[in-house]
Order: sequence, then structure tokens, then C-alpha cells
Amino acid sequence: MDRAHLETRRFLIVTGKGGVGKTTVCAAEALQLANKGKRVLISLCNAKERLSKMFGTKPVGSDVVQLAERVWAVNMDPERALEEYGEMVVRSRSLNALLFANKYARALFRGVPGMHEWAMLGKAWWHTTEKLPNGEDRFDVVILDAPATGHGLDMLRVPKVILDVVPPGLLRRDAERAWALFRDEKECAIVLVTLPEEMPTTETLELASALRDELKLPIAKLVVNCMLPPLFSPAERAALTGIPPIEPRTAAESALAAAQHRAVREKVQAESLKRLTESLPLAPSFLPLLLCDAAAPNAIAELARRVA
Ligand SMILES: Nc1ncnc2c1ncn2[C@@H]1O[C@H](COP(=O)(O)OP(=O)(O)OP(=O)(O)O)[C@@H](O)[C@H]1O
Ligand SMILES: [Mg+2]
Repeated sequence: MDRAHLETRRFLIVTGKGGVGKTTVCAAEALQLANKGKRVLISLCNAKERLSKMFGTKPVGSDVVQLAERVWAVNMDPERALEEYGEMVVRSRSLNALLFANKYARALFRGVPGMHEWAMLGKAWWHTTEKLPNGEDRFDVVILDAPATGHGLDMLRVPKVILDVVPPGLLRRDAERAWALFRDEKECAIVLVTLPEEMPTTETLELASALRDELKLPIAKLVVNCMLPPLFSPAERAALTGIPPIEPRTAAESALAAAQHRAVREKVQAESLKRLTESLPLAPSFLPLLLCDAAAPNAIAELARRVA
């Protein structure tokens, strides 16, 4: 199977270090899948959302809203997701209202470790099971804009914990179905997003080994975001980084200092790519560092063309 080929998957989990471009990649992937005719839902995890800016629409709240042709989004609120889940499980609005209106019941739910994470992860998974009145799937693909590294891992650990500790029942049944989907590489793909820099690379490699070795989840794609187009050959880089940094006094010296600075960044970029490709059996997809506002709709359209 072409592992980077995402359009046959039902569920994509986009994760990576904070601020590396996860939401940007979600938007770009969603747009390019929609361009291929897929109906796509982006699920945000209670985010200070910037997705609406990327599509030039009104803010995304906890109701599903359409952002573009065949692209929808929801910003999941864990309390609300829990209530909705309660409603589905209890199958009675009044009984559920009673349950959730009761402060002790609410406190109990809130107190269970991982309940908020499961409320959001479970809700995102549940959207893969939603049907239209004609019986077709409401969404072909659900993209989870997962929390950054550690929190993302904690969230993905929850279904397994439920399977380990919760007795048979509805909660366990749904967790089982969701977990089976997440572990199936034909149905689910984890998309790792990183920057070609030292710390994000280290964090990405740690995240990848936890996903692969501990959780046995299928990593299908590595997106290296904010790539600089190399201006220098390896020999030129070595020459520029080999001379001591200069204190520029003339325009020519300023140009040399800028070239040195750029050469250092290109060197770090090349070293980071080497570490990533040596440790992960994936051909990375590259997104360029845009010099315009990357959260503007035309920038997202450009990144969507490149992310495929
Ligand atoms: N390829 C790019 N070129 C230039 N700027 C980019 C690029 N990708 C993302 N950005 C910018 O970097 C910032 C962070 O991007 P984004 O919000 O997608 O990251 P994130 O990983 O979702 O962050 P968080 O962890 O806070 O959710 C944004 O301002 C975004 O517009
Ligand atoms: Mg984000």
C-alpha cells in the first residue's frame, strides 16, 4: 500500500509539536481531499481556532459548520461532547438531562482521568459512523487536529485504557470499535507534522516511537513544514559556516553575515532531514516556508496543492 496515499482512509490523526503547523496541514489536507471529491470533516480539540481564517469563514464552534465545498469543521468542546455522548448512550434526552444536571454526576464524569480526552476522540470517531438520510456516510474522511505531542499521546492512550479497565458495556464497545479503526492502517493514518529544526525533530522522533512501539498506531505520512529552498550547495554551506561570524560594518559584510545565517539554517535543515529519514521509514512530504500570511485562504490553497 502507498502509505502516504491518504484518500482511502476514513480517519486521519494530525499531530506534532506545538506550533509546527498541524492546523495548517489539516486545512491543506482537507482541501486537497475535497478537491478529489471527498467529503471531509476537520475536528478541532477545543482549540483557540484559526481554521475559519484559513477558509475565510465565520468562527468554528461546537456545531458542525461548512467551510468550503465538501469541507466541514467542528471545534469540539469536551463538556458538550460528554453530554452528547451521554445522550447517545442513554438514548433519552430527559434522562440524560437529569444525569448531567446533577452536579455529582457531572463531577464524577469530570473526575475520571481521560474522560475529556475520550469525549473528544470518541466524538471525532463517532463522526465516521454518521450517515446521511440516503444511507451514505455523512463524511468520507474525518481529520482529527490532535493536541500537541504529550497531550496528543495522552488522548490516544485513552481508548486502550478503557479496554483494559472498563467492564463490558456501551462505553467499552465504542472504545473497542474506535481503537480497532485507529489501529487499522487501511482505515486510519497518522500524519506527523514537523519543522526541519533540531528540537521539533527530536520531539517528532520520540512521538513516532511512542505511537509505533507503545500504541502500535499506523504512521502513514510525515509532513516537513516551513522548508527553506536551499540557496547553497553543501560545499558552500561548509565554507560559510566554517568562517567565524562577522560584525558587519559595510553593505557587503551585511550580505555576507546574512549568507552565513542562512547557511547555518540550511545546515540545521539538512541535518534534521537526515535524522528524520534515517529513523522513519517514510518519504517526507515537504511544504515550503511561505513568506506571505500562511493562514490566508490563497496560501492554504497553495499548500493543498503541495501536500498531496
Ligand atoms: N508553511 C508555512 N509557511 C509560513 N507560515 C506557516 C506555515 N505553516 C504554518 N505557518 C504559520 O505558523 C503558525 C502556526 O501554524 P498552525 O497554527 O497551523 O500550527 P499548530 O501546530 O496547529 O499550532 P498549535 O500547536 O498552537 O495548535 C501560524 O501562524 C501559521 O500561519
Ligand atoms: Mg493548531
